[in-house]
Parts: sequence; structure tokens; C-alpha cells
Amino acid sequence: MVHQEFLSRAASGPIAPGEVAWQAPSNIALVKYWGKREGQIPTNPSISFTLDACNTRTRLAYAPASPKAKGPVFRVFLDGEPAPGFEPKIRRFLDLALPYLPFLENLSLEIHTENSFPHSSGIASSASGMAALALCLVALEERLDPGADTAQSKRKASFLARLGSGSAARSVDGGLVFWGEHPGIAGSSDLYGIRYPGEVHPVFGTYHDTVLLVDKGQKPVSSTVGHGLMNGHPFASQRFNQARRHLDLLGPALASGDLAAFADLVESEALSLHAMMLTSSPSFILMKPDTLAIIEKIRGYREAGGQPVCFTLDAGANVHVLYPASAAGAVYGFIREALLEHCPGGQHICDRVGAGARRL
Ligand code: PMV
Repeated sequence: MVHQEFLSRAASGPIAPGEVAWQAPSNIALVKYWGKREGQIPTNPSISFTLDACNTRTRLAYAPASPKAKGPVFRVFLDGEPAPGFEPKIRRFLDLALPYLPFLENLSLEIHTENSFPHSSGIASSASGMAALALCLVALEERLDPGADTAQSKRKASFLARLGSGSAARSVDGGLVFWGEHPGIAGSSDLYGIRYPGEVHPVFGTYHDTVLLVDKGQKPVSSTVGHGLMNGHPFASQRFNQARRHLDLLGPALASGDLAAFADLVESEALSLHAMMLTSSPSFILMKPDTLAIIEKIRGYREAGGQPVCFTLDAGANVHVLYPASAAGAVYGFIREALLEHCPGGQHICDRVGAGARRL
């Protein structure tokens, strides 16, 4: 299905060589997206914190392709080295993006990309990577159609990023980003992410996310396979309803700064995501014993000391520890003393809520 709103108005014709560059952040979902329909349409809406330190920087160099080539012709470089391993994924993405950026057909592209976090860290680079590339493509389109409106360009970047990786739709804007149609959220769409339009207590702008690297290995289940496991899953419809209910309950907690309610909802979401994998067919156990040990310690510490700290998980064993800046001294001390022993080499990444993508 072609979405008219995102078709290109850029004139076709010769394009002079040039380059554009963008940095896009990773994000961590608070209410999770797990399950999708044809065309990367989510089966439930989701919301995430945009991160800051974990990001991808992409430089896109473009030049006319030789007239015989059936474009887009492209090469990918990671940290300055050719990275042909990424080409099938980028090829699929460019093929999906082509109806919205038809001028790509006549171009030869070099995609130079760098992640601020190590490729093997267990942090997915697909959200930040696809968002950075989509932003570069939209910036290139803007050169060909200089009148484009900024808000529309941002929406189009999120729309295109989504075609590459669903959660990448949430890696364009900053703060809290909402993706997926939901009756209570004005302007929400299945097609792109928007900055969460509800009231947000300032405490959430100060949140830290310390990512504890429990296991840096390859994930046992890719996200494509993982989303597919929700087709025919015995708990699928309950799960999609639960996510919507959680979003309805999260709204008042975000508005009032109710950190206890926030912690309950965010932890429940993380465990529900893993519960779906534990109960799918085939089933996957993505937590490690150290993941559980960390979770138990976080809950014990919160209950004993009253610090507003909570955890969330991605589709893997690493733990994201979330806490406001006002608790950072105490919580980071606790992380160092009690949690890093569960991470090989004590490895962790200190991140926080960020302002969104930026042009380089
Ligand atoms: O963007 P994908 O297709 O890799 O899916 C990611 C899904 C989770 O990270 C597990 C949850 C989410 O909402 O980000």
C-alpha cells in the first residue's frame, strides 16, 4: 500500500554530487512494541524514552549513477571499513523507500555509518541506524525540493525509518516518543512516531538509563522472528490490550510525576515482553541468571530504601536501569556496588533521555 502523504515532490532531473549527515539516537521502549502486521504496522501502540549517548552517525554521499545501472546503487561502510554484511538489510530498506524517494533510482550512494556503542555490545543499532539513514535521505530530498515543511520532513523520516525497523520510527524525535494509533493520543499514527503530546512532569526529562551489559552475545531470536511469534500466540490479543491499558495508565503517571506508578508499569511491560517469548512456540528464554539477579536486587533496593529506580528490558538479557537525576548519586553508587558484578568486566553504558536526532 502506498501512502500518498509521503510521496515525493522532488523534481526528477540531474542531481549534482553531494553529501548529507545526521546523528540519530537509540531509544528504549517503556510500553513495548511486539507484534506487527504487513507493512511494519504495529499491533499495539508503544512509547519510548529517546536516548542520548547511544547513537548512530551516518554520512550519505551521493552522485549520479551510471546510466546503465538500475539504482539505487550503494555501498555501506561501518567505521570506515566496507560492511557488505549490512547490504541485504539496507537493500530491502531502500526498495521499500523507493516509491517515496524515486530519485534514488538514478543515484549511486555511499553510506558511511558509525555507532557510539560497540557493535557487539548487545545494544541494537537498527533503530538509530535506520533513523539516521532515513534522515539523510529526507535531507537529500529537501535539497531537491527546498520548500518542504520541517514538521512534514520529520514525519517522513520517521515513516521511512519505520520501514527499515519498526522501533526506528521512535528514533527521530526527543524526550518521550509515541508510535501507533491510540484513541487517547492526538495525532498518533501507525505510520510514524510523534513526540508524546500529553502533559509530562519535568522529572522525566532528567531520567538516566544505565544499561547493564549482562550478555553481549548474538541474540538467540531476531526481532523479525520474534514479532512473527505473536501470530497465533495464545496470549496475543490479551497482550495487545494490556499494552493499550498500560498506555492509558501511564498518561496520568507521566503528568503527575508518580514514579511508583511509572515503575510498576514499566517493569510489568518488560516482564510481559519476556513472558510472550517464554510462552511462544518455539519458546525463547532471553534472560540470563544475572538478569534475574539484577532485577531482584533493584526491587529489593527500591523497597528497602525508597529510591525511585526501576528496570526495563529489551529483547535480550541486558538490563536498563531507569532513575531520575535527583536519585543518580545514590542509585549509581548502588549499581557500582551491587549490580556491576553481574556484568562481564563490569561493562555498562551510562545514558540518559536525549533531545532527538540532529543534523551534522
Ligand atoms: O524495531 P524492531 O523490529 O527491532 O523491534 C523492536 C522491539 C523491541 O525492542 C523488543 C520493543 C520496542 O518497542 O522497542
